[in-house]
Amino acid sequence: MAGKGTMRACSIKAYGAVDDNVSVVEDWPKPTLRAGKGEMLIRVCAVALAPGDCRVLSGKTSLVQGPKRFPYIGGGDVSGVVVQVDEGEKDFAVGDQVFSLFDGKPMGRLAEFALVKTKLSCKKPANISLLEASTLGSSAFAALRAAEKGVRKGDRVLILGATGGVGPFLVQLAKLKGASFVAASGLNTELLSSLPADRVIDYSKENWWEIEEIKDGKFDMVFDLAGGRTSWREAKKAKAVKSGWNGGRYYATVWDNPYMVIQHWYQVFNFPTPILLRFWYAKLNWAIPTYRYLLVPGSDNPRPVYERLNKIIEAGDLRVVLSPGAPFPFTTEGVREAYNLQKSRHPNGKVVIKVADDL
Ligand SMILES: NC(=O)c1ccc[n+]([C@@H]2O[C@H](COP(=O)([O-])OP(=O)(O)OC[C@H]3O[C@@H](n4cnc5c(N)ncnc54)[C@H](OP(=O)(O)O)[C@@H]3O)[C@@H](O)[C@H]2O)c1
Repeated sequence: MAGKGTMRACSIKAYGAVDDNVSVVEDWPKPTLRAGKGEMLIRVCAVALAPGDCRVLSGKTSLVQGPKRFPYIGGGDVSGVVVQVDEGEKDFAVGDQVFSLFDGKPMGRLAEFALVKTKLSCKKPANISLLEASTLGSSAFAALRAAEKGVRKGDRVLILGATGGVGPFLVQLAKLKGASFVAASGLNTELLSSLPADRVIDYSKENWWEIEEIKDGKFDMVFDLAGGRTSWREAKKAKAVKSGWNGGRYYATVWDNPYMVIQHWYQVFNFPTPILLRFWYAKLNWAIPTYRYLLVPGSDNPRPVYERLNKIIEAGDLRVVLSPGAPFPFTTEGVREAYNLQKSRHPNGKVVIKVADDL
């Protein structure tokens, strides 16, 4: 640990390339609990990266996701041990092992100590490590909400981009919610088979809309975690997904461009416009699947979702998949490697950085 009043932290000094801007420093001031803000101070065990961490670093969405100033501390989803709570705090006590979702912008957590919002935190499930629990904040949350909102008993489900941070959780949860058949696409077929997906599609070798299992029934539900506009076009024209009239649904969590530019106010409309057009077009045209963009957590209150998630994990029905090489050490080299892997868009599980060796 760094000196009294200071801590080790992942400092990001400017927008741009990982290796030019990301480093671990020893002398960052330790945060102090602010009374009445609904926060608690945790000693960080681990941080799980997500596409949002790379989006903030890229600066391409600086108007809505930028830091107030540079340098800033990276890292959003976190796990750790509570070291200080606000007066009157009822849900958490010093010593609790918790995980937490970032508050609006993924930053401030990749450090030895971090402030987290109590309403965005939960005690970890008893049967997984604190390190694994760092992955639950947004990715498992997004997967559970997607499965709860999208999957109906007996559905034939397709998950595009199932080898990232969200996908492995979603494949498992779709089956748990009663899907009769789950096809999952990605390059890492070994990972997909291990979840297990019922049908693994290596998108470099075959098109999902041409697999022979479609003769047994079209897909009822498609979750698009990767493809954006291209996949939606295929879903409309290829007849591999049921029409809206017959209950066919297409839910996307991904923008058309993973690094959409929102740097000026007029670019704010770039993101929702195609999504709204698609939503209305599909609503008026029952011959194609209904379309929805899933924003999670959106207006969801995380705590009840986390409690349902914990029960599923404690029942042994959901496991965490970490990227090859994870956990990454909390050194400049380790953190850069982790950010570069997340930025590659081929993480093969959750990219986790271990901050405290003794937790
Ligand atoms: N809407 C929301 O509230 C919300 C919440 C959570 C996540 N998200 C978004 O959902 C998306 C998925 O999240 P994530 O954390 O799972 O992302 P991730 O960890 O970066 O995973 C990316 C996935 O995309 C696949 N992929 C990359 N390039 C591809 C290509 N050219 N063709 C087809 N697939 C490709 C990867 O598979 P291979 O490695 O096998 O190619 C991988 O499965 C992200 O865009 C994220 O921002 C949105």
